[in-house]
Amino acid sequence: MRFDFTGKVAVVTGASSGIGAATARLLASSGAALVLVGRDAGRLHEVAGTSPDTRDAVAVAVDLAEVGASGEVARAAADAFGTVDVVVHCAGLLEMAPVADVDPASIERMWAINARAPMLLTRSLAPHMGDGSAIVFVSSTVAHVGFGSYAPYSATKGALEAFARALAVELAPRTRVNVLAPGFVATPMLTDQYPARPASSRGSSRGRRSASSAPARTSPRASSRCATRSRAAT
Ligand SMILES: NC(=O)c1ccc[n+]([C@@H]2O[C@H](COP(=O)([O-])OP(=O)(O)OC[C@H]3O[C@@H](n4cnc5c(N)ncnc54)[C@H](OP(=O)(O)O)[C@@H]3O)[C@@H](O)[C@H]2O)c1
Repeated sequence: MRFDFTGKVAVVTGASSGIGAATARLLASSGAALVLVGRDAGRLHEVAGTSPDTRDAVAVAVDLAEVGASGEVARAAADAFGTVDVVVHCAGLLEMAPVADVDPASIERMWAINARAPMLLTRSLAPHMGDGSAIVFVSSTVAHVGFGSYAPYSATKGALEAFARALAVELAPRTRVNVLAPGFVATPMLTDQYPARPASSRGSSRGRRSASSAPARTSPRASSRCATRSRAAT
């Protein structure tokens, strides 16, 4: 099903790559004005250029791991469009290691971008969001299913889901809050981890084999949770 986002303003983090870029492109083609967030300004502008009307896309190149970045994004959104209807938190970082080898700095990096940044950005954007608005957090199946060498990453996604659950109650009925937890999706996050071996050959703690999907197959699930007509969750 295709949703109409004409007249809506969407903030998408992680919009410079993978699932975030595919979601931003889909929202733009469905009529949304966009605030695209990531670190790589060049790739953000490339995605912004795919908007049917590029005046309706603003690129904000920031490091979301920095505490002040969320305020910068909120100011850019308010200056450009005055309001925010949709937020899709896609920015994320995966660093795999067996737990005995985990670098403490890696835990800090993943916590900062996967859990703290969505919380801080929500804090900054919520005052700009009105009736019928929607927030989607991109978690992962590994928050629910055990995968070796994923423990700290899985924990950040578990924290994100707990945050989203409480937020859904707090912001209802004005803002709907949902979590999308994809399986393996063929993006740089995944292909960088498995350069020689595709994700389709990995097993999980439930003994299943997992096949990877394409970002363009995940983005409709993200945008459907943003649409006012959607019946998904809160
Ligand atoms: N791929 C999968 O199999 C999979 C499965 C389940 C869930 N997920 C989740 O889906 C989301 C999107 O992942 P993806 O697969 O699309 O990964 P990706 O292609 O590697 O994209 C990651 C995005 O996050 C942004 N980002 C990372 N660190 C950042 C920082 N410090 N500040 C600002 N932006 C930052 C990157 O921006 P720059 O490149 O511009 O820095 C990039 O746009 C993540 O939350 C991930 O955990 C992915």
